[in-house]
Amino acid sequence: MKTERIRTGDDSYTLRVPELDEHYHSIHGARAESMHVFIDAGLKALKNKPSIHLLEVGLGTGLNCLLTAAHQQPETTIRYTALEPFPLEKEILDSIAPENEPERGRFWQIHHTPADGDAQITPGFLLHRSMQKLETLALHDPVDLVYFDAFAPRVQPELWTTEVFRLLYDLMSDNSILVTYCAKGDVRRAMQQAGFQVERLPGPPYKREMLRARKNS
Ligand SMILES: C[S@@+](CC[C@H](N)C(=O)[O-])C[C@H]1O[C@@H](n2cnc3c(N)ncnc32)[C@H](O)[C@@H]1O
Repeated sequence: MKTERIRTGDDSYTLRVPELDEHYHSIHGARAESMHVFIDAGLKALKNKPSIHLLEVGLGTGLNCLLTAAHQQPETTIRYTALEPFPLEKEILDSIAPENEPERGRFWQIHHTPADGDAQITPGFLLHRSMQKLETLALHDPVDLVYFDAFAPRVQPELWTTEVFRLLYDLMSDNSILVTYCAKGDVRRAMQQAGFQVERLPGPPYKREMLRARKNS
């Protein structure tokens, strides 16, 4: 699918998919949204866990992955499994690559990781890229944290169902969490039907709420 670069409210870039009239992040601030939803409400909520297996649904531009590597606690190790069945083309990646180091180097490490291969992004951060689609996902090891960053339910309703959330629930460890920017009532109920305890949290700039789902032991 064709994408075009957009500068967002906090001066960071996102991509727009004209065919779907959909963006990869909030137009009010891609970086601010990613920090708020995935790092602050997700990664930081597991700050006392020495080793985290993280699953991202939709690697896309790699922004969540970059910010996770930048905000990792020194004493924590992270194994980051990123699903991306539709990788972005080099030309569009070139247009959004960060200018500053070490982000630029890490950005290209992430995007040069072979499909279904691994790369050591920092000493304690191992990325595994997977071409698997969420709907049919199979993993060997339980997941402690899910970044659910699929396109919105309007665009991909098949990814926001009770069935898909149950699949994730079954792949997750006890006391694990899932975070998403979406706060729709239907999505919250689908998560609850899958077995999660769901909280509504304040959303990123210009968004009232987001969701955090917990799998309790
Ligand atoms: C909202 S964008 C992701 C944004 C990304 N996290 C970022 O920071 O750029 C949604 C992503 O989900 C991917 N995707 C689409 N269908 C998928 C599927 N069935 N399973 C997993 N990922 C999918 C898309 O290719 C796209 O990269």
